[in-house]
Amino acid sequence: KRGAILISGGGSNMVALLEAARDPSFPVEFVAVVSDKANAGGLAKAEALGVKATVFERRTYGSKADHEQAILDHLAAEGVEFLCLAGYMRLVSGSFIRPFEGRIINIHPSLLPLFPGLHTHQRAIDAGMKVSGCTVHHVTEGMDEGPVIAQAVVPVLTGDTAEALAARVLTAEHKLYRTAVTRLFGAGTATDDRQMLISLG
Ligand code: GRF
Repeated sequence: KRGAILISGGGSNMVALLEAARDPSFPVEFVAVVSDKANAGGLAKAEALGVKATVFERRTYGSKADHEQAILDHLAAEGVEFLCLAGYMRLVSGSFIRPFEGRIINIHPSLLPLFPGLHTHQRAIDAGMKVSGCTVHHVTEGMDEGPVIAQAVVPVLTGDTAEALAARVLTAEHKLYRTAVTRLFGAGTATDDRQMLISLG
């Protein structure tokens, strides 16, 4: 399957996916990286890994719809059939999702449905959680609420700062994302949204 990765920042999850895709048995070949930010650190990392990276700055488009359409046109031109959002900090609309229905996924740094949105690590600490983790899920119009594909659990340690927990979760994200993609395509036929993979990070 021809895939693309959408980023807005450093792209460490993108790097993990691109490195996993070097294995010929990995079910996705990533042919494009797209960023909505020209200053995304992940752009140079993608090029260094041999994948063309293209910027679509939001402010150069008159509307969200125009911005999304420009990205969709680029993805269509590259024959992309599968999308991984990886640190892409923008909500995508229903008309963006529709052409990729069931084939657009995201990674979120919490155990959804707990802590959708931002600042997940501080919120987990403040709530007194003893575990946290990350979730790969199907992307739907709502924020961080699509069917869960896979989750990884990490401990919250006494005295953890948000930064310490974020680093621990990020390591688990890098492993989870490639495992989730493999399972999504590898195991069986249609993606059974209830197909749950629990891996202890
Ligand atoms: C990660 O925690 C990811 O889950 C969140 O953004 C953070 C940075 O991701 N969406 P990356 O290093 O840009 O992949």
